[in-house]
Amino acid sequence: PRITFVSPDGGRKTIDAPDGETLMRAATQHAVDEILGECGGACCCATCHVYLDDASLARLPPASEMERQVLEFTAAPRRKGSRLACQVLADRLSDGLIVELPATQI
Ligand code: FES
Repeated sequence: PRITFVSPDGGRKTIDAPDGETLMRAATQHAVDEILGECGGACCCATCHVYLDDASLARLPPASEMERQVLEFTAAPRRKGSRLACQVLADRLSDGLIVELPATQI
């Protein structure tokens, strides 16, 4: 699946993520520096915060209760499109996704 990350300064990086990999791991493996993923994907650090647009959100499985709770602790403001990249899989549903990165994770 092809995923595009957009930095706050407008810079874009498109990667081919392994199928079934989380967006957090795919991003960190491709040096998308704005994604930290400090807890390693255990859904407890909120340093893999990203923003998705409405169309993308509608395509993906909804956030779990746990993800919604951890989203309360993001460093950058939480928005309607906020998700944790460790809880979103790179697969046929997310192929072509545009992922907006927040200004800070800590
Ligand atoms: Fe820690 Fe996603 S990597 S919440």
